[in-house]
Amino acid sequence: MRALAPLAERGERIPGARVAQRVDDAQELVEITSANHLLNLGVVHHRRILADVSTRNGASAVEVEGLVRRFGDFTAVDDVSFSVKPGELFGFLGPNGAGKTTTISILCTLLRPTAGAARVAGHDVERDPGAVRSNIGLVFQELTLDDYLTGAQNLSFHAVLYGYPAGQVRERAAPLLEMVGLTDRADQQVRFYSGGMKRRLEIARGLLHSPRVLFLDEPTIGLDPQTRSHIWEYVDTLRERESTTMFLTTHYMDEAERCDRIAIIDEGRIVAIDTPSALKNSIGADTVTLATADDEATRRQIATDLGIEGELTADGLRLRVPDGESFVPRLFDHLRAGVRSVTVHRPSLDDVFLEYTGRAIRDAEAGATDRLKMNPMVRGFRKQGT
Ligand SMILES: Nc1ncnc2c1ncn2[C@@H]1O[C@H](COP(=O)(O)OP(=O)(O)O)[C@@H](O)[C@H]1O
Ligand SMILES: [Mg+2]
Repeated sequence: MRALAPLAERGERIPGARVAQRVDDAQELVEITSANHLLNLGVVHHRRILADVSTRNGASAVEVEGLVRRFGDFTAVDDVSFSVKPGELFGFLGPNGAGKTTTISILCTLLRPTAGAARVAGHDVERDPGAVRSNIGLVFQELTLDDYLTGAQNLSFHAVLYGYPAGQVRERAAPLLEMVGLTDRADQQVRFYSGGMKRRLEIARGLLHSPRVLFLDEPTIGLDPQTRSHIWEYVDTLRERESTTMFLTTHYMDEAERCDRIAIIDEGRIVAIDTPSALKNSIGADTVTLATADDEATRRQIATDLGIEGELTADGLRLRVPDGESFVPRLFDHLRAGVRSVTVHRPSLDDVFLEYTGRAIRDAEAGATDRLKMNPMVRGFRKQGT
C-alpha cells in the first residue's frame, strides 16, 4: 500500500479526517495498486472536493481566447477563440492533424499553450490547473486503465479518488457497466478484455464522477453501431439529468448532428462555428440533379424560363435552388425533353465539412496507430506541461 502514500501527503490541503477516510476506502477497495494509477488519477482527482461550486453557475463552461500552440516552428493551434455554454454539446470537427487533440489537451491542462488563454468551468488552465482537473472528465481512445484490476475495481478506484463514498460506488458504477455492456465481465481483470471492451470501460469511467465538463476525443471510434447508440442514449440521459457540458470530437456524422453547436477547425484555425442547421444553410442551396434526354437543351431552357443557370455534370444537369422540394413541381411545367431521373439533395454536415476543409469527413479519419502516435494524451499525464 506504499503507493497510496502520495495521496495522503497531497491531502494536506483537504480536511484531515476526510483524507484518512478516503485513503482507507481506497485501501479497502483496491488491493493491487500500480504507481501508474496515482500518476494517472490520484494527482488529478483528489482535489475535487475543493472544486469551486460557484462555477456551476458560471457564464461559460469553456472559454478560449487567442489560443496558440506551437511545436518548434510548427503552429498546431493558431489563434483559436470560442466559448461553450454550460450544458452544451459542443462538437469539434476537423481533418486529421487540424489541432483538435492539441486544443483539448490544453483545455485539460495536459499541454501548456504557447499564447492565449483558456478557462474551463470558470478556472484558468494555466493559473489553476488543479481546479480545472477536478471539474472535468476525459474520455480518450488511449487506454489508461489498470490491467491488473478488474473492470469494477478500475471504476471503484477512480470513484474513491474523486471523493465518492465507498458505499455509493457500486450504485453509481452498476448502470454505467450495464450501459457499456460489461456487467458480466465486471469482475474480470482488464488485461483479459478486448480493445473494444477496454474502451467501453474508459467511457464508463469518464462519466463516473459526473464531471461538469466531459471531454470526449473520438470516444466511440471503431465501436459497433449498437454500442455507439447505447452510449449515446446514456450520454443524453446524463446531459438531461446533470446538465454536463460535453466537448466532443468525432468523425461520425450522426454524432456531429447531435451537437448543439459545431466548430470546424482546419490547419489550426476555426473556419466555421454554428449550429448544425445554420452551418448547412451557410453553404447554400439544395441541389436538384436532373437527367434528361438532352441535358444541354434542358439547361438552356431552364436558364431562359426560370432564370436558373444549371451546371452539366457526369450525373446530369445540376441546379442550385433555395428549396428543392417546392422547386421540382415547378420545374416539370417547363421541361420538354424526357426525364430519366430527378434527385433533390439537402446539404448535409458532410457537405459542410467538405465546403470548409476541402475534404470529406470520412476521409479525414486517420489510422488508429497514427492517431495514437500523434496524440499528446499518450504522453500527457506522464510528462505534464510538455
Ligand atoms: N507533441 C507534438 N510535437 C510535434 N507536433 C505535434 C505534437 N502534437 C501534435 N503535433 C502536430 O500538431 C498537429 C495537430 O495535431 P492534433 O492536435 O493531434 O490533430 P487532430 O487531433 O486534429 O488530428 C499535427 O500536425 C501534429 O502532427
Ligand atoms: Mg486527435
